[in-house]
Amino acid sequence: MEPIDLRSDTVTKPTPAMRRAMSEAEVGDDVYQEDPTVNRLQDRVAALLGKEAGLFVPTGSMGNLIALYLQAGRGGEVLAHEQSHIIHFELASGAALAGCQIVPIPGERGILKPEVLGRFVRSGGYSNARTKLVEIENTGNLAGGTCYSLEELKALREWAQARALPIHMDGARLWNAAVAQAIEPAALAAYADTVTVCFSKGLGAPVGSVLTGSKVFIAEALRIRKMLGGGMRQAGILAAGALYALDHHVKPLADDHLHARMLSDALEASSWAKVPVKPETNIVFAETPGRDAGAVADELAKRGLRCSALSSERIRLVTHLDVNRKQTDQACEILRTLF
Ligand SMILES: Cc1ncc(COP(=O)(O)O)c(C=O)c1O
Repeated sequence: MEPIDLRSDTVTKPTPAMRRAMSEAEVGDDVYQEDPTVNRLQDRVAALLGKEAGLFVPTGSMGNLIALYLQAGRGGEVLAHEQSHIIHFELASGAALAGCQIVPIPGERGILKPEVLGRFVRSGGYSNARTKLVEIENTGNLAGGTCYSLEELKALREWAQARALPIHMDGARLWNAAVAQAIEPAALAAYADTVTVCFSKGLGAPVGSVLTGSKVFIAEALRIRKMLGGGMRQAGILAAGALYALDHHVKPLADDHLHARMLSDALEASSWAKVPVKPETNIVFAETPGRDAGAVADELAKRGLRCSALSSERIRLVTHLDVNRKQTDQACEILRTLF
């Protein structure tokens, strides 16, 4: 039996139909901004998120980095949740390449709250850096796929606007947040100035993200993308995968969320795992009290279920397009009967 791979939603492979759409894509030189498929994707995502313009970037990391580069810059501070992807998994690119300092902010469920942020803002006194940007992650990966509610976003936006602070949203899984809450992506994106979304996570495309914002911001972002080595040529082949994903793979995210709840129930019914937070989207955490999480992950792998050990006592399972209901049932059985 093929192992059931729940390490991440990035492990999906393009379907035959997606591959066909990619191979048939109309292309041009995107550094000349002449790739019709890339242009179509950028316009479509900008419209979906209610922004003026979009820029195709190879990765979510590059989208976030460009946002930090342009909105915080050298010596500027970025307020981001202490569990955020830009702190844990982007190789300190904000410091190394954008020259900014990211301030880790505590908070339940990966959510930034105005009352907490207030303690961390600096006005740029003689010895202080200046706070330049607020960065939020929706959904929060290390927080367990958590979603900002519209009320939380509104409160944050009002707080940031009162201090003239822009907001960047790392929306690698914004699609999941929108589907889980039955809210249009634009309604969530409205509370941020710039937003990155990814197609290579839950949407199942092999490559690609889009950074969105104002026309002025995206014109500058185009330059920084080139500077970072991200100017691509006939990138329409990749953009076609993302367009296909938008057409066909957004709705099935609801199945991923249901599968995550099934896994969570199976873990709760087991003798060895504790579920610290009920999954809101497609990410499930389980604590392994008294057992090494790495050893648990190895034991699961022997039975055909792959997951990630996030720390010494925590594993993570992520549902996605390439794991169907039958495989989820099998995974639940493996989890229930492991020890
Ligand atoms: C929340 C979040 N942001 C950003 C990224 C970075 O995306 P990429 O791997 O395309 O650089 C990821 C990747 O998994 C992510 O989970």
